[in-house]
Amino acid sequence: MERCYKHPMATNIGIDLISFHIPSYVLDLSVLADIRGVDPNKFVIGIGQERMAIVPPDQDIVTLAANAALPILERAGRDNIELLLFATESGIDQSKAASLFCHELLGLPASCRCLEVKEACYAATASLRMAAAMVAARPGSRALVLAADIARYDLASPGEPTQGAGAVAMLVSANPRVMALDPESGFYAEDIMDFWRPNYREEALVDGQYSTRMYLSTLIEAWNRYKAASGRGLADHAHFCFHLPFTKIAYKSFERLCRAEGAPRPEPEELERLIAPALRYNRQTGNTYTACVFEALCSLMDDPPAPLDGQRVGMFSYGSGCMAEFFSGVIQPGHREHLFTDAHRGQLEDRVPVTYRQYEDIFNYGVPTDGADHIFAPYRGGPFRLAGIKDHKRRYEPR
Ligand code: HMG
Repeated sequence: MERCYKHPMATNIGIDLISFHIPSYVLDLSVLADIRGVDPNKFVIGIGQERMAIVPPDQDIVTLAANAALPILERAGRDNIELLLFATESGIDQSKAASLFCHELLGLPASCRCLEVKEACYAATASLRMAAAMVAARPGSRALVLAADIARYDLASPGEPTQGAGAVAMLVSANPRVMALDPESGFYAEDIMDFWRPNYREEALVDGQYSTRMYLSTLIEAWNRYKAASGRGLADHAHFCFHLPFTKIAYKSFERLCRAEGAPRPEPEELERLIAPALRYNRQTGNTYTACVFEALCSLMDDPPAPLDGQRVGMFSYGSGCMAEFFSGVIQPGHREHLFTDAHRGQLEDRVPVTYRQYEDIFNYGVPTDGADHIFAPYRGGPFRLAGIKDHKRRYEPR
């Protein structure tokens, strides 16, 4: 018989501050549809995506993540941050953790454990849980969780319009100002090949339709375990945030949950209220892999249909391969004054559109792998950039 899972922590631990960062360039998917000879509605309506973030050569997961984290540290300081977890599936080194580069850029204390965590898009959720467990075990400590990814598929493949990039940073503490995590979770793990990226490839390999079926079936597996652990039903959640490889999947997910619960098919107004507010940002950035579900949370909190104070949000995290978790949290009273809403909106509004040719040039731009010295021209971006590579070593600098 399976046991229900409750995280061994006090209930009042969670996300104290959360901030995201996206690259400053963007490709409109109508441009891509035109070049690929596809009806633009397939992208906008069929998969629910409008634009994809484009990463210039002087940005990588380290700069995206450090750029996301800096506003948090400027507001909350660096004291007692004892753990820095970096969740990613776009690693830049097989040995050294990306968190160590960020540790230096962000001026974190030497008494801070730094790790990189991997399980496809699921790693940030696992990191958040591990960070919360550390905070529970060491009262007064805080942890920083970074999630950053650059989603790449082969040019002209079905996955191409779902590409994206971005980073989320979360400060985890006791008495959080933004979201207290509920202790219950529902997990599901299975060894499958739905999406993967062997070490010799820059682009992911994917069985797209199979991955979507697995996403939806693991949602129900994880939900059932969460429900058994928490005793909660759908109506106990004011909103839902799903992992968003493309936003249409959120509608499919909620409909699947309703079917599994024997609830009536949701009305369009219900979907608009419960699901849609969490989708706005992802429609504009594309898949941000590990950061997705937390980008969805930012989207919901930055522009909610009604005040969220004291409301419970259901969260579903899926990582191909595969690992799924359904969990939840309660948005804290007064949280709005601790959000980075203006900074998030400003980044989305200020992006520079690229042409198809520029997109393809950037896509094919190869960072030298022979150890030759390389200097990156400065592009628009956040406070940190990748300046160059020398003797196989990446050199980062403040802008
Ligand atoms: P596809 O196979 O080219 O698309 O790519 P399709 O033919 O299935 O069409 C998609 C939808 O558009 C369909 O709607 C069509 O009817 C509709 P549905 O039947 O699904 O409701 N459509 C139109 N709608 C309006 N006007 C039109 C039109 N034409 C068609 N003219 C696929 C879709 C998702 C497979 C592809 O984008 C892909 O391979 N993506 C990458 C993999 C992926 O995103 N998988 C999702 C689950 S796995 C996951 O989430 C993990 C991941 O994030 C990685 C990780 O964990 O690390 C990916």
